[in-house]
Amino acid sequence: MSPVEFDCIVIGDVMYDVYVGYFADPIHFLKGGTSYCNFAKIDFGGTGNVASGLALLGGKTAFIGKAGNDCWGRLYEENLKTKGVTTRIFYEDKLFTGLTLIRLEGDGERSFCVFRGANDTLSEHDVGKSIYLIRRSKYLYFSGYSFANEPQRTAILKAAKTAKEHKTKIVFDPGAHNLIRSEPWLFAKALDLCDVFLPNLDEASEITNTTNEDDIISALKNRAPLTAIKCGKDGCILMRKKRVVRVPSFNVKCVDSTGAGDAFASALIFGLANNFPLRNVGQLANWFASQVTTRIGARNFPSKRDIRSFIKELKNAEK
Ligand SMILES: Nc1ncnc2c1ncn2[C@@H]1O[C@H](COP(=O)(O)OP(=O)(O)OP(=O)(O)O)[C@@H](O)[C@H]1O
Ligand SMILES: [Mg+2]
Repeated sequence: MSPVEFDCIVIGDVMYDVYVGYFADPIHFLKGGTSYCNFAKIDFGGTGNVASGLALLGGKTAFIGKAGNDCWGRLYEENLKTKGVTTRIFYEDKLFTGLTLIRLEGDGERSFCVFRGANDTLSEHDVGKSIYLIRRSKYLYFSGYSFANEPQRTAILKAAKTAKEHKTKIVFDPGAHNLIRSEPWLFAKALDLCDVFLPNLDEASEITNTTNEDDIISALKNRAPLTAIKCGKDGCILMRKKRVVRVPSFNVKCVDSTGAGDAFASALIFGLANNFPLRNVGQLANWFASQVTTRIGARNFPSKRDIRSFIKELKNAEK
């Protein structure tokens, strides 16, 4: 058996988030003409959010993904390295790095336009070259967004199979409820493979085919060894064996919830890898995720100092 070296290997999408918004003119994107917006921001996004958050918390992490052979791909890798993440990014000559265009409306509504680009070309062969990372890790994380197209879908399933063979635990976030609806069998398969299931309430409802919260809990209780249902401002519901723990979130002024789910996953994995009691895992995950919602962008993590003092408080409260 290989010695464990990483808390988590994150496999998935290399994405930039490009925000444009608060249009003064009601005619957005005037056809054939020029429109102006009064807010814009380009930020690192994609599955690297989970690796970045985990590294900031003090976890040892690595990231596997595919980018275009362009300056954006290189910058994404450079940024993860700067944060202390070990990287295995493959480069595709024929496609650009993925990006998500996020249009913010004045009323708080957000519309997404996703260009997956090079991400879809992550192959089984690429995963084969990354096995040394997977087998040296406690957890492997992936999300349903990376199931969008072949060959990436098969590559992710190969990573999951490799994780199983090497006793690396699998964390799976389905990503979005409409993805489950279009291919329920695939998401059921991923749920059966995983050790930690991280749906939000809509996704949990979709996969269990029920809208009643108690029914959702009963249906998911005996599926994965641990399930954490993310409930937005209401925090999360953790289920391990027969135990069901509801953990309320923190009262924050939510400005942009992009990346809240990813931040939640980072902190939950950190808590599990460090054997925190279950309720503390939920509290840390809620706190870390709630902080991210207070500014625009998925990687507005709290400072290292705030993280240290929050964890210290959690530990003191346990005594
Ligand atoms: N308004 C909020 N106030 C406090 N905490 C929040 C708020 N929104 C989200 N959170 C925290 O973030 C976690 C994840 O958010 P959410 O339940 O929206 O998951 P998600 O839908 O997977 O997120 P995403 O939109 O990033 O995919 C919640 O479980 C909670 O801990
Ligand atoms: Mg989510």
